[in-house]
Formats: sequence, structure tokens, C-alpha cells
Amino acid sequence: MELCIIGSGYVGLVSGACFAEIGHHVVCVDNDQRKVDALQAGKIPIYEPGLEDLVHRNVAAKRLRFTNSIEDGVDHSQIVFIAVPTPPQADGSVDLTYIERVAREIAGVLKPGQYRVVVDKSTVPVKTGEKVTETIKRYNKGADFDVVSNPEFLREGCAVPDLMNPDRVVIGSASQKATDLMKQVYEPFKAPILVTDINSAELIKHAANSFLSLKISYINAVAAICEASGADVEMVADGIGMDKRIGRNFLNAGLGYGGSCFPKDVKAFIAISKQLGTPFKLLEEVERINEGMLDRFIGKLRDVLWVLKDKHIAVWGLTFKPDTDDVRNSVAIELVNRLVAEGAHVTAYDPKGAEKAVEWKLLDPTKVKLVPTPIDAVNGAEALLLATEWKEFLNQDFAEVKARMHTPLIFDGRNLFNPGTMRELGFDYRAVGRP
Ligand code: UDX
Repeated sequence: MELCIIGSGYVGLVSGACFAEIGHHVVCVDNDQRKVDALQAGKIPIYEPGLEDLVHRNVAAKRLRFTNSIEDGVDHSQIVFIAVPTPPQADGSVDLTYIERVAREIAGVLKPGQYRVVVDKSTVPVKTGEKVTETIKRYNKGADFDVVSNPEFLREGCAVPDLMNPDRVVIGSASQKATDLMKQVYEPFKAPILVTDINSAELIKHAANSFLSLKISYINAVAAICEASGADVEMVADGIGMDKRIGRNFLNAGLGYGGSCFPKDVKAFIAISKQLGTPFKLLEEVERINEGMLDRFIGKLRDVLWVLKDKHIAVWGLTFKPDTDDVRNSVAIELVNRLVAEGAHVTAYDPKGAEKAVEWKLLDPTKVKLVPTPIDAVNGAEALLLATEWKEFLNQDFAEVKARMHTPLIFDGRNLFNPGTMRELGFDYRAVGRP
């Protein structure tokens, strides 16, 4: 099929590459000419395992191309996906200006007799589909189109496998013709397809991300009780997770959730529920627990080191989770900045995130020392903090780590290491919710 994807960010680019990989012809549109130039030159603006190969292969096979022209994309495609950002506003509600603009732009290029399915893939509040429909109609009276909601559930770091092998595909549609076309798009993925009305599809995305955030805050609250009682949150999570109704996924206690989705989507769902007159108070607690995780962690560090000012602290991990270079809304970055604000001397290492943290001005390289290896980070450190659970941290020479540290104190913010092993190696080892 001929598909167009407007917005070549995370969701747009990975979706475009995966749609091309299964045989569709895809044109990715972006209004950032530099990004289009880079993509045309084979440069991938984000680090995502498997993505670069996928893009190169499908560009070479002429199934994937990039342009800055919406008209070009819409002209050549039966189905037009919108995958532009929906950032949060100061009050937590969703800024829909990019979606509105793209809807107007699509209206401006739709030609008479040219039926198109306009699919919203961005995460949007319930009832956005209605607004997109109204907007296209207002700016193009004779337009022949249907609007569909098709939320994307990919995770960063495993976006390609998530997209190629989804748990489910949600198609929110009020038109049989549009639903049939969407089923054709997804047929090669062999995934379960759930067809709903548009409002339900939009709500599914916010409800799913909020539920996963709730699971994380729940286990983090349990971790606090474990700390107060001497129980081990890892064992508790295993024990409750073995109940199939609960499941073990997203029950990893730690520093809390970050990234560009969970914090934003929980806030948005709280705002949406208020706007609809049905405030979702439970989610306010989910957020409160998450925002308190760093205070607890730094508080425990202060309990040991007493004063953080002038202390040499090593931090392993900067990205919001492993296997990505994404440092936006990363709890690890916030941790580093809070330590720096208290006057600590922080040396940090991350396999992929350091460059972007500086480029996006999330870290000040004159205040944080960024080093090229984990071992470099621990020289003279009075504490090592693990903030992101990259697998490579498991394979370090811990005798060397200990030898280089000033005092062998480890605070594991992601419960990555085995407490017994670390203590046998001679570390004063502290985890989250574990004795
Ligand atoms: C999430 C959703 O999983 C995905 O379906 C949606 O499309 C986008 O938002 P993503 O933000 O890429 O994906 O990462 P995810 O793996 O879900 O992790 C989010 C955050 O939760 C990370 O900061 C991670 O460290 C944290 N987390 C996750 C925990 O603290 N504990 C867990 O058990 C799982």
C-alpha cells in the first residue's frame, strides 16, 4: 500500500521504516529540512537498535523515502498517518497545536475525488479525532476522507521489535471503508487487531500508559514498606507477579519512571479527567509517589554521607532507561543536577546519552565531568550511584572499581546488582526496597 507518515520523530520514523519493511511504500514527511536532509543522506537522528539497518535497506529497495512536502506525501498515499509531537503544557494538558496545524495542511492539499484515510498515531486526548475531522472539513469543504485513531504502543530501546510484533493493534474508526484499509496495512504483522470507536481508541493509549505508571508507583510504594520492615521488594514483586492476573512486568522498583511518555501521559490523563468533570485522583497519587522517589534516594545517600557538598560522586547511567540515547525527562539527569545543586562533584558515564544531554543543555559540562568509561567515573569517588540499568554495568571489574573508589559505597537506584555478591566484594551496598 502507499502510505504517508507526517512527522519523522520516534513514532513516525520507526513506524515508517517498519511499514516499509513489510512491503508497503512509505513516504515520511517532516517540516525540519535539516532532518529530511540527514535522513536522505542515510543519517538516523535517534539511536534505536535495528533502526539504521531497516532505514538503509528500505531506502535502497525504494520502499521508503523522505520529503518536506505534505502535498507530495498526501498525493501519493491512500493513508496519511499523523505522528507529530503532542507536548505537555504548563498545566499538564496536551498541546495540540501541531496536530491542528497538520490537519489544516492536509485539508489544504486534499484534491477533489481523492479519498484519504487520515490516521492519528500521536498520543492525543480523547475527542481529538472529532476535532481533526471538523478542522479538515472546515478548511476543505469537499474533502473526501475518514479520520481513524491508531495509537502506537512502542517502547524506546525496543521500538523496532515492538512495532514488528505488537501485542495488539488498535483501530478506532467510524467508517467500514477506513477500517478495511487499516486492516490491510496491518495484515502482514499477524497481530491481534481491536477495532473500536475513535474515542475509545484514543482513551486506550492514555489508560494503558497510566496503568503501567501505576504499576511502577505501586511497587515503589511497596519498596518503601519493604525498607521499613526488612522485606525484599524483588521477592515481593516475584511473588505477586507470578499471579497471571498481575504479571511481573513493570514491577521493577527503583528511581521511578521517566521518559517522554509516562510522566506526560499521566499528567495529561489527570488533566483530561478534570476537564471531563470526573477527576482521576488515583493518578495524582501515582504521580506524587513517582516524584518522591528521588527525594527518598538522595535522602538515603545523605544519611550515609551526611553532607553532599564537595563529595565526589560517580553516577552510572544518564538515559531514562537502557538501550536508548534519550535523556529527556530522565530521572538520572535530574539526580545528577540535584547533586550538583547541592555542591557535590559529579562524574558521570553513560554508554549513549552523554552527548545528547550536553547538546540539549540538560547537563552543564562545566559542572558535571562526563567520562568515556564506567571505570573512569569512579576514580576517587565516595559513592557510586547506579541510575540507569545498562547491562554493561554488570560486567565491570568490581575489584578495580573498589580499588579506585575513595570509599566503596554503592547506591543501586535500579536494583541491578546482586546484594550478596556486592557485599562479598567488599562494598557497602544499598538498593531500593531491599535489605
Ligand atoms: C512507554 C510505554 O511502555 C509504551 O507502550 C508507550 O508507547 C510509550 O511509553 P517508554 O517510555 O519507551 O515506553 O519506556 P518504558 O520501557 O515503558 O519505561 C518507562 C519508564 O518506566 C522508564 O523510566 C523505566 O525506567 C521505568 N520503569 C519501567 C520502571 O521504573 N520500572 C519498571 O518496572 C518498568
